[in-house]
Amino acid sequence: MTGIETGRLILRNWREGDRELFHEINSDAEVMTFFPFRRNRTESDAVMDLLRDEISRFGFGFAAIEVKASGECAGFAGIRRTGLEPHLPDGTVEIGWRLARRHWGKGYACEAATAWLRHGFEALRLEEIVSFAVHDNHRSTAVMERIGLRRDASRDFNHPAVPEAFPHLQRHVVYSLDAAQWRELPN
Ligand SMILES: CC(C)(COP(=O)(O)OP(=O)(O)OC[C@H]1O[C@@H](n2cnc3c(N)ncnc32)[C@H](O)[C@@H]1OP(=O)(O)O)[C@@H](O)C(=O)NCCC(=O)NCCS
Repeated sequence: MTGIETGRLILRNWREGDRELFHEINSDAEVMTFFPFRRNRTESDAVMDLLRDEISRFGFGFAAIEVKASGECAGFAGIRRTGLEPHLPDGTVEIGWRLARRHWGKGYACEAATAWLRHGFEALRLEEIVSFAVHDNHRSTAVMERIGLRRDASRDFNHPAVPEAFPHLQRHVVYSLDAAQWRELPN
């Protein structure tokens, strides 16, 4: 992946210098409100390695967001193949995001995600991109709506990786956009 540039951001593969920020967004209680786990530094490093390898192999994935003005990493956004059979068939591509708390409210998630939609539909010629979130993760579903995804309620599911001890985190809502709908958006 050579990097995707937007007005304020560079979307690029992970670097060694991003490890602290990546751990922060995997362990901060507010950022992780809708996840049933927090990751320590060792676990976080291992996930960053996995994401970095995926991006190197496939050319896309959950990639770092670098703020051009400061050079700092704000979090991630990207597209990635899901592994959620039978809820979402193999080959389904999801779009997702996670930002450090101090970078919320600046429009960075939408700016990065819109660039990833464009890359997915125009460079990779994907047929469809989906997104999903815990049903009351309204900040995330607001991003989905702002970038043009549509509610796809018939595909809602209980996430198989969420333990029964977290019933309020099980139900996930699904949004989707296909290539024809993308072409109709005013981008
Ligand atoms: C989900 C998440 C990425 C959304 O971040 P965000 O900053 O709210 O998202 P956006 O990029 O759409 O920014 C929109 C906000 O920026 C504001 N904004 C400021 N400047 C802006 C600009 N130049 N352009 C667009 N929006 C701007 C908007 O008014 C809006 O503010 P509001 O939240 O007060 O209404 C963030 O809350 C997060 O990391 N959550 C935790 C992780 C998570 O749950 N991930 C999803 C799992 S499915």
